Amino acid sequence: MVKILAGAPAFAWATVWRNRCRIPSYAPMYDFRIEAADKPALYRELIAAAESLTAGEPDSVANMANVAALLWESLPDINWAGFYRNVGGELVLGPFQGRAACIRIPFGKGVCGAAAATRAPQCVDDVNAFPGHIACDSASASELVMPLVHEGRLLGVIDLDSPRLARFDAEDLAGCAELARLLAPRLASMDAAPPEALKTR
Ligand code: SME
Repeated sequence: MVKILAGAPAFAWATVWRNRCRIPSYAPMYDFRIEAADKPALYRELIAAAESLTAGEPDSVANMANVAALLWESLPDINWAGFYRNVGGELVLGPFQGRAACIRIPFGKGVCGAAAATRAPQCVDDVNAFPGHIACDSASASELVMPLVHEGRLLGVIDLDSPRLARFDAEDLAGCAELARLLAPRLASMDAAPPEALKTR
């Protein structure tokens, strides 16, 4: 079940925290508790939460940051969840959760670069057997990378790593493909030229 507002005790703490941090009272507190019986249900709930978190928000960094947090909190057995962005034909690290990671990945290199070059999802059971795998964290054993494509443009990729061999399967691929379909239009501004006003600063 997806909840947006927390219960009373959490809300009381949120009020204390808000006052201390001077967060205006109109800012909602998000409390997504995803409780699912199986993987398809988990992805349905995760996508519903991602839909409500990103609805109406044009800032792609904010949207990627919240979705990375959601993936991190909702998916079991992962040690990295986040985004690489297509910046001028090279993948550049975007918002993520997990350990600090490699910043730039050329198309065609590693699992992320393979997904970017082919625009095909990559589901790798054993990263150490993948030619050219880029080891950002030696604990990673398997990986899923899903391209984000909008109106024919590759915007970037979603990257998930796990410390467990063969952690990802067809259900994860289907769930991440659905997530990418939802997100791509909501991240479409990420490769847009800066507005005129910003260029002159
Ligand atoms: N392992 C990836 C690099 C990115 S990290 O996993 C965060 C790859 O081979 O492309």
